[in-house]
Amino acid sequence: MRTKITVIGAGNVGATTAQRIVEQQLGDVVLVDVVEGVPQGKGLDMYQSGAVEGFDMKIVGANNYEETAGSSICVMTAGLARKPGMSRDDLLKKNEEIVADCISKVCRHSRDLTIIVVTNPLDAMCEVARRVSKLPKNKVFGMAGILDSARMRAFIAMELNVSMTNIHATVLGGHGDTMVPLTRYCTVAGVPITELIAPDRLAAIVKRTAGGGAEIVNFLKTGSAYYAPSAAAVEMVDSILKDKKKILPCAAYLEGEYGVNGLYVGVPVVLGANGLERVIELKLTADEAAALKKSADSVAELCGLLTC
Ligand code: NAI
Ligand code: 2OP
Repeated sequence: MRTKITVIGAGNVGATTAQRIVEQQLGDVVLVDVVEGVPQGKGLDMYQSGAVEGFDMKIVGANNYEETAGSSICVMTAGLARKPGMSRDDLLKKNEEIVADCISKVCRHSRDLTIIVVTNPLDAMCEVARRVSKLPKNKVFGMAGILDSARMRAFIAMELNVSMTNIHATVLGGHGDTMVPLTRYCTVAGVPITELIAPDRLAAIVKRTAGGGAEIVNFLKTGSAYYAPSAAAVEMVDSILKDKKKILPCAAYLEGEYGVNGLYVGVPVVLGANGLERVIELKLTADEAAALKKSADSVAELCGLLTC
C-alpha cells in the first residue's frame, strides 16, 4: 500500500512542498488547485523530473478532490499570499473561506487524515481547519515555528560564521509580529547563545527573526517566502510518516498548556505516527510568559473574527 499525500494549492509553497515530498520519496502526491491546468501541468512536470532525479513517486494534479481519496496527510497551502504592505491578518476573511471550502472537500474523501495547515494567518486558519474537519486536535496543526526558528538559526549562523546545523533555536507564539524567539533556549553546539553573542546583536537577531517573513516579501514584491516554508512543512510530513517523534515548534491547539485555553499557538511538540502526540512545556520566565500571553491574545482576537 503506497502512502498518499494531498497538497492543496499549487502555488509557490504548495508546488515546492510537492516537489520536496516526491524527491524525498515520502509518498505519492495529489496536487490540487482551483486554477485549471496549473496543478496538472506542474504535477506532470515534477513526475517527469523523477527520471532524472531517480524517484518513482507518482504525482498528479487535479481541480477536484476525487483523486485525493485515501490520503494520510493533507498539507493545506491554498490561499492568498501576502503582498507588500499587507499584514498576515488582512488575509483573514478571504483565506477563511478558502480553507473552509478546501478542508470540507478533502475530508469527504479521506477518513484518517492528518492536516498540516500553512495558509495564513496561520494560527487562525488552523482553527478553521479544526472546526470544519471536526478532527481531533492531534490531527490538525500548523507549520510556522520551524520556519521562524530556521530563520533565527540562519541569522545566528551568519553572525557567528558557523554551521546552521549546530544551532538550536525555539520560537514560540503565534506566527506574526508578536512571535516569541526564546534566546534562553537557543544554543550553538550546546553552548548558550547568550555566551556567544552580545546582548545588542542578539536583540537585533530577535527583531530580524520576527520580521523575517516581511523581509522576504519586501524583496520579492509579488509574493512571500516558499523555499524555507516548504522545507519546514516537509520536515513535519517526514516526522509523521516515519514516526520519528521529532520535537518541533508547531502551531498546536492548547487546552491549558502554557496557560492558554482553546487556541492554536506555536509551542514545541512531538510529531509522530499519531500526529501531534505531545506538547512539551518549557519553563518560562515572567517576561517570556507575558510575551507568549500577548501573542496568544493576538491569535484570540483574530479567531474572534472567524465566522465558521
Ligand atoms: P501562491 O499565491 O503562490 O499560491 C496559492 C495557491 O492557492 C494559488 O495557486 C491559488 O490558485 C490557490 N488557491 C486559491 N484558492 C484556492 C482554492 N479554493 N482551492 C485550491 N487552491 C486555491 O501563494 P503561496 O506563496 O504558495 O502561499 C500560500 C499561503 O501560505 C499564503 O496564505 C501564505 O501567506 C501562506 N504562507 C504561510 C507560511 C507559514 O509560515 N505558515 C509561510 C509561507 C506562506
Ligand atoms: C512567512 O513568514 C509569509 O508567513 C509567511 O514568510
